[in-house]
Amino acid sequence: MTHPHVRTDPPGRPRPERYLDPSTPVDERVADLISRMTLAEKVGQMLQLDARGDLDDLVLGSLCGSLLHASPERSVHARELVMRTRLQIPLLMAEDCIHGHSFWPGATIFPTQLAMACSWDRDLVGRAARATAVEVSATGVHWTFSPVLCIARDTRWGRVDETFGEDPYLIGELGAAMIQGYQGEGLDDRTAILATAKHFAGYSETEGGRDASEAGLSPRKLRSWFLPPFEKAVNAGCRTFMIGYQAVDGVPITANRWLLNDVLRDEWGFKGTLVTDWDNVGRMVWEQKVCADNVEAAVVAVNAGNDLVMTTPAFFHAAQAAVAQGRLAESAIDAAVARLLRLKFELGLFEDPRLPDRPRQQSVIGSAEHTALNLELSRRSLVLLRNTGMLPLDGGTAPDGAVRASSATPRTIAVLGPLADDPHAQLGDWAGASGQVDWLPDGHPRELTTTVVDGFHHLAPDDWTVVHRRGAQIGRLIPDPSGPVLPDGQPRPELFVPAEVDEAELAEAVAAASEADYVVVVVGDTVGLTGEGRSTATLDLMGSQIALLDAIQKLDRPFVVVLIQGKPSTLPASALAADAIVQAFNPGMQGGWAIAELVLGHIEPSGRLPLSVPRHAGQLPVYYNQVRGQHGHRYADLTQDPLFAFGEGLSYTTVRYSEPRIQNPVVPSTGTVRATVTLTNTGRRPARETVQAYVRDRVTSVTWADRELKAFTQVDVHPGDSVEVEILVPAGDCTVVDASGRRVVEPGEFELLVGSSSRIEDLRAAAFTIEHPRGATTAAFLGRDTML
Ligand code: NOJ
Repeated sequence: MTHPHVRTDPPGRPRPERYLDPSTPVDERVADLISRMTLAEKVGQMLQLDARGDLDDLVLGSLCGSLLHASPERSVHARELVMRTRLQIPLLMAEDCIHGHSFWPGATIFPTQLAMACSWDRDLVGRAARATAVEVSATGVHWTFSPVLCIARDTRWGRVDETFGEDPYLIGELGAAMIQGYQGEGLDDRTAILATAKHFAGYSETEGGRDASEAGLSPRKLRSWFLPPFEKAVNAGCRTFMIGYQAVDGVPITANRWLLNDVLRDEWGFKGTLVTDWDNVGRMVWEQKVCADNVEAAVVAVNAGNDLVMTTPAFFHAAQAAVAQGRLAESAIDAAVARLLRLKFELGLFEDPRLPDRPRQQSVIGSAEHTALNLELSRRSLVLLRNTGMLPLDGGTAPDGAVRASSATPRTIAVLGPLADDPHAQLGDWAGASGQVDWLPDGHPRELTTTVVDGFHHLAPDDWTVVHRRGAQIGRLIPDPSGPVLPDGQPRPELFVPAEVDEAELAEAVAAASEADYVVVVVGDTVGLTGEGRSTATLDLMGSQIALLDAIQKLDRPFVVVLIQGKPSTLPASALAADAIVQAFNPGMQGGWAIAELVLGHIEPSGRLPLSVPRHAGQLPVYYNQVRGQHGHRYADLTQDPLFAFGEGLSYTTVRYSEPRIQNPVVPSTGTVRATVTLTNTGRRPARETVQAYVRDRVTSVTWADRELKAFTQVDVHPGDSVEVEILVPAGDCTVVDASGRRVVEPGEFELLVGSSSRIEDLRAAAFTIEHPRGATTAAFLGRDTML
């Protein structure tokens, strides 16, 4: 096949190519280059295509400006092809490196975002992102599609594991830290990669938990809860945003000028680049059916403000046809291309295309430093949800708390369950063999992941015996009879078939447990029950896991349930009867090590839940910041109270909170509420406490959440010590979104609620008042005029 834009001209250039001169200001470089480009070259720049296709066709035929999912070999080949194009514009190489360099063999795979969120630690999450950027940037990838800033409210959705949980404030704080970690000191830093705030906006607000269904949101609801984390991402300097698949109130986000232009660009001042999600432009034709054909879809997408079109190859001809037919102004294409080229110039790709760098890979990928950081994050991501006193295991450490090689009382631990020795489940989705790419069929090298069984083998005292039996299976995947590929070319998720009880396997586990001093049962889910198009109708533990738990409970031996899963499951009575429950989500390569440390008492549990956990899927949504005004507070057949609430998590000690003391109980709306609280460690082990501060606005012009997280801080408290903690809440953050959609502070009476979780019984209140700024009238300040 011949390609019209392949370089045929002899070397030697007719007019000085200012865009190639790095001393020329970026705006001028962009303008110079655009002035030299044909329409086809410009439209090509707006394409991001799947590198697993025919590379010659993608680079030489469609002149694409960006590739995603390139295997290490294909990214080198793609560069060679670019050098054969007329203008040799470097490619932007992108990948979903969402908790580590997901698909690079041997990279450091951190806990998933949901697990990271349990740390509630901005600094640690930022450091994990930095380490990821250092690894990714050595491999020729310039851009990660991370972080996810979606709000997880309906946990039947398959992508809860990719989120930071349910709270806009926590999501925004951790998201900003992650963005700064990825982008480092600035794009000219060779270890910086582009971050992506995704999926803009409201993607997670699904109907029935079903993936990418129409989001039941109004502009006001978007502004109230779904947009704030994204606004924080802009303020943190995030260079790219990804547009969600879904429509909101009838308008696909891909077509939503109000959101992309009026809000994101004009109101928030975002200067970066917008990439669609996978075939969003094509979807407007074949799925959402709001455009008659690809030409119309191209017009709509460009005019709405999208810059880079992910995996809609038809856009190449469709956009050119739209211009030729006078339906799309070439200047609109130029504006998008200018934003894309700006990124390439600022990354310095024309001077240095940042190709894979072998020596750097050898020194940074999976380095000892990153492995240590990974272990630290895994430790901090574990949430102890229940403990009747069984943990830490008696004899797991010496009486003075030191790690012991042997003990006076040898013990036997039975480590049971389908996930006790499952490296894939530990890494979770978007890692190794999770299904999105085809070059790592067996996942990351097995020896890099410490499973729970490995962890106990390494860490239990030498004279203890560690026995492992699976005891149960979760299920298997079978091909969907509708075919292996979705209409958009992505692999169609296979169907999940839960496992039946295997009596022999169960009996083996029961026998091992009955001879053990301690039983650890590791249950949860697998990537087959997680991810895009893989929402679940229930939250049950699948397969024969409940049978295993029931059988273990009947033995009446001390047992711990460890949950490795993409999202919280509802728990059967037998699991709730356990002596301890540890929520690990997908704790990453070092997860098994950290879990064994926690159970044996080598570390202190410190994680806190970033989302509320229902008792039954029918309770959904159970997020804590619900709007006031419901009749009653329960179902006829079940409480509305969650099983575990946002912010909950135990330590191996107890911490007492004093009443909060507000220093300035009357503050102007421009001021800051200053409070202190005293924490006392009343137990015998150290605590890392996450002090949470919620604000309740007593009367609001519109219905509003009863309380919202506005600040949190972490503090170490040693046994017997008391520590005074300062809490600062800017009055300007005590806002509501009024009936006209404006975010305002409504002066009046508020409560500061301080404590260890979002549960009312864990919080202590102190009142404060926010005053009008001088000169403002009540009506103007409240924005009530529009409502009345
Ligand atoms: C679709 C997913 O929704 C998005 O999160 C991801 O970044 C892209 N595919 C690229 O893999």
